[in-house]
Amino acid sequence: MDGLAARYEALKEKVSERWAEFAELMKFVETETEYLTAPASTKFHLCKEGGLLEHSVNVAETLLKLKATLAPEISDESCVVVALLHDLGKVGMPNNPLYLKNSPDSKWKQPYYWNKDLVYLNVPIRSLYLIASRFPLKEEEAQAIVYHDGQYVEDNRSVAMRETPLTLLLQYADTWSSMVLEK
Ligand SMILES: [Fe+2]
Repeated sequence: MDGLAARYEALKEKVSERWAEFAELMKFVETETEYLTAPASTKFHLCKEGGLLEHSVNVAETLLKLKATLAPEISDESCVVVALLHDLGKVGMPNNPLYLKNSPDSKWKQPYYWNKDLVYLNVPIRSLYLIASRFPLKEEEAQAIVYHDGQYVEDNRSVAMRETPLTLLLQYADTWSSMVLEK
């Protein structure tokens, strides 16, 4: 097992209360979607094979550190669920990935491009769509996933001043990971 795989497995082991449902969800995620191989973006942070997994693990570890200091009452389980899966929407759908590889000789310089052959959903909404039908998400977890881009995104204005601590910490862990750790 390489370092990333070991970090990923250690994070999943922190899920205890809903472990059976989580195991089922992750079986779907790992075997029927591109979660383990997808990039994290088309041309920005971790736009390479396995980038999404690496980003998700970075966010989860950062979130656990932040919550241990600032909000120890939040469960490790909630942190792991929302951090590992906040960007699940980046896989697209089973057999229809969101990010497609540009061929090396393509005139486009970026490594991946968006698949237009998917019904439009923004990434967080697609994450929620893929998770919620398979796993008993708590309300705070749903909020954190849907609004994890925070005020960077126009769609998110409605949550302003109503973010839960979990949402605020996930937003920061995501920003810290993509803009500092993954730079
Ligand atoms: Fe993210």
